[in-house]
Amino acid sequence: MDFTAHMDFTTLGRTGLKVSVAGLGCGGHSRLGKTKGASAEQSGDVVRAALDLGINFIDTAPAYGTEEIVGAALKGRRDGAVLSTKTQIVTSGSDVLGTDFKDPSQLVADLEKSLTALQTDYIDVYHLHGVMPEQHAWCAEHLLPVLKGMQSQGKIRYLGITERFIYDPTHEMLGVALEDDHWDVIMTGFNLINPSARNVVFPVTQSKNVGTLLMFAVRRALSQPEALRSLISDLISDGLVGADDIDPENPLDFLMDENDADSVVEAAYRFCRHEPGVDIVLTGTGSVAHLKENVRSILKPAIAEKSQKILARLFGHINNVSGN
Ligand SMILES: NC(=O)c1ccc[n+]([C@@H]2O[C@H](COP(=O)([O-])OP(=O)(O)OC[C@H]3O[C@@H](n4cnc5c(N)ncnc54)[C@H](OP(=O)(O)O)[C@@H]3O)[C@@H](O)[C@H]2O)c1
Repeated sequence: MDFTAHMDFTTLGRTGLKVSVAGLGCGGHSRLGKTKGASAEQSGDVVRAALDLGINFIDTAPAYGTEEIVGAALKGRRDGAVLSTKTQIVTSGSDVLGTDFKDPSQLVADLEKSLTALQTDYIDVYHLHGVMPEQHAWCAEHLLPVLKGMQSQGKIRYLGITERFIYDPTHEMLGVALEDDHWDVIMTGFNLINPSARNVVFPVTQSKNVGTLLMFAVRRALSQPEALRSLISDLISDGLVGADDIDPENPLDFLMDENDADSVVEAAYRFCRHEPGVDIVLTGTGSVAHLKENVRSILKPAIAEKSQKILARLFGHINNVSGN
């Protein structure tokens, strides 16, 4: 089924770019199916299906190994797409959380590599990939001037930064980055188990008109029942969720009450899509069937108010897990 006619579009903050509310994530655990052995052709089919569904925002990165696939799938369709890719900030092979920073001049070669892989001469949104709180000041001082130089040459349209949600589930880095206000676009983790960006990220992105991309809408905990049970059991053990308040075997089944959502995955995407301040919900998959399902979910109305109240009571205070 083709949803192109029904895709919803929004403005990506101060960039003014018109973007689909669903974005294709070419990383995460699936990497367009590469992690499960999909061929480049099969992964390309996911990208082409996304475009056919009306998705125009595509997020990739050298670290995912999917830039070439995206570049090939966009042949003849580049003009309609908004391309987002990234660069790592530490030297290749070093600890991504550490301070073995790459030489700033390396960014020029990184960008050229991405342009070649993506078969384009400009990137719409170019991010620093997975920056930790302790790393941001160095990035702003040493990498930002190089990024601005490449922007003035027209090779980058807008600058972005992504957090490392697994290690920074309270969004400490974005707290600093949004205050400094160098970035037109940010990418943050948000989902129905850790909705803390609602309190510390979205109020600022909205007031400063920063484009906001959302990752981890579903990830593992909300797509794999066993991972969900294990996460809920940890939250109960840590005293963060009351044992009497939740069914540990089927913790989120209430979301399907009264035929509201068809599945936890559907509810999870709908929960994110309607959060004020979220511009694009990224969905990462190696499956065209999942992609279609997810686009359909993202285009559905918000989940029932009753469910939202229960979620707020159960998880509204959680800010120490990512759902990975
Ligand atoms: N710091 C960063 O810069 C950073 C970090 C993480 C992610 N990201 C970006 O954000 C994107 C999205 O993040 P994410 O990977 O966490 O995506 P997600 O949409 O939250 O989760 C996707 C996972 O759920 C599974 N899934 C998707 N649809 C499903 C369905 N209908 N039913 C059952 N399982 C389903 C996928 O596996 P299947 O392949 O089996 O569908 C995949 O493993 C990434 O692709 C990447 O572009 C950026």
